[in-house]
Amino acid sequence: MTPGLDPERVVPIPYHDETDLELVQSAFAERGAVCFQRGSALLSDEQFVALEALINQVRCDPNYDKGFSTSGHSLYVYPIITDKAGERPRVLHSNASEISAIVGSEEFTAMLAQARGIDEKLYLRRAQVHLMKRGDFLSDHVDTIANPDYRVAVSIVFDKPHAGGTFRVYQGEFKEDWDDYAPSPGEPLLVDAKWIHGIQKVRDGVRLALVLFYANNLEENPSYGPFAAAIRYASMEEELNK
Ligand SMILES: [Fe+2]
Repeated sequence: MTPGLDPERVVPIPYHDETDLELVQSAFAERGAVCFQRGSALLSDEQFVALEALINQVRCDPNYDKGFSTSGHSLYVYPIITDKAGERPRVLHSNASEISAIVGSEEFTAMLAQARGIDEKLYLRRAQVHLMKRGDFLSDHVDTIANPDYRVAVSIVFDKPHAGGTFRVYQGEFKEDWDDYAPSPGEPLLVDAKWIHGIQKVRDGVRLALVLFYANNLEENPSYGPFAAAIRYASMEEELNK
């Protein structure tokens, strides 16, 4: 079968109660990601509508001039909570507490850990809005480069592009196989932070999403310390062994 075209892989799955959990866990474990239907146990319709209002306030806030365009990618980022190397998470927008009350709650984070099949308490460490217009894309990457303690990332779409802009999750490091997700507004997409993923070029319309990163602690982000050094060392060694 051609990779990425199996509809069973990309159709959002129901998640209403504990009985659906086995399906959720196996999808997550086998494909590195899982997308829920709108109005799931994770995010109710009311919560989604509340989030949408909060996100639009962030985008339209005249006192908030923090948006930036990223290098190596092509998209516009509005940081709400940042998680920089060597630092603890830092709030950049006053809506962060209301957003956290929904997507950083005990219930929400416990469900993420359950879906991922891990017995750890998870914390919301980073929250940002991504705005992508025609021609924008997000290069392939793993989230654990930014913080090795990330376990799960969640993407919640508010505006779905008319064409392109699919969220691609690769199956394995050789990128021979992948799943393309095209979530509609209100369908949360959960991704294992260590799986390679990226967003394909938006061909028509706009993609607006809230992107959230969860780790097992709220301590200083260690990515600038031994972890980054280990990566540098590993790539040096790879060079030497060529
Ligand atoms: Fe990512």
